[in-house]
Amino acid sequence: MSVSSCLVVGNWKMHGTLSEAAALVGGLAERLATGGSTVVRHAEIVLCPPHPLLVPVGQRIQETPFRLGGQDCSSAEPGPRTGEVAAAMLRDAGCGYVLLGHSERRTHQHESNAAVRAKVVAAQAAGLTAIVCVGESTAVRQDGQAERHVTDQVLASLPAAVDAAATVVAYEPVWSIGTGDTPGVPDIEAMHATLRDALVRIHGPGPWRVVYGGSVRARNAGAIAAGGGVDGLLVGGASLQPGEFWGICEAVSLTRTVPP
Ligand code: PGA
Repeated sequence: MSVSSCLVVGNWKMHGTLSEAAALVGGLAERLATGGSTVVRHAEIVLCPPHPLLVPVGQRIQETPFRLGGQDCSSAEPGPRTGEVAAAMLRDAGCGYVLLGHSERRTHQHESNAAVRAKVVAAQAAGLTAIVCVGESTAVRQDGQAERHVTDQVLASLPAAVDAAATVVAYEPVWSIGTGDTPGVPDIEAMHATLRDALVRIHGPGPWRVVYGGSVRARNAGAIAAGGGVDGLLVGGASLQPGEFWGICEAVSLTRTVPP
């Protein structure tokens, strides 16, 4: 059993009004206040609301150990890019993290590995930790190409001068996101080992953090987080329900507690 803390990232995606965000953060803060100190000792909790909610959520979590992250950033410096958000702006809004290359962006915004790589450069230059998402589709997995695909994706999504300490790789099988289906823990462990090997081979010893995402719930979080080489969880749908999200954080923290 490891004693290292485990990352739990809540990706709110395109959900939330000001009042819903207040209720969600309030629900988490309540649980934190009622015996939650052990949980946050072992779980590093990051909330990634949509851009308009970053500042109000940031203000609400100021006195808590919760951290703030964006869901995307531009690869460009601040300037004439209507609709874009620069990495430095996320930093200024209180973010320590940014999700990059989520499969929904790769699909709907046609983000290539090269585009993601440029964003990682911008994010790290702004002092953000980049959470770089990779994962295979059902067709790729059925073809027996999952490990090759995901390895190619991660290597092509990171710049040569990547800062390992400011990088988290999120393995998110596309077929698992929002579906209720998850790979078995041995499959997750195998993919994390493959990713870590590739990162070490190309970019050096790290330390590299590799987290899992896709249909994580309170009921499966502990088993997944206890898997070898799993440094945390990226949570979508369940991060919108304070009870469920806190249940995930609790389950994760138990996997990091040394038994008496
Ligand atoms: P999910 O999403 O937990 O709803 O499957 C995960 C993600 O997209 O990051």
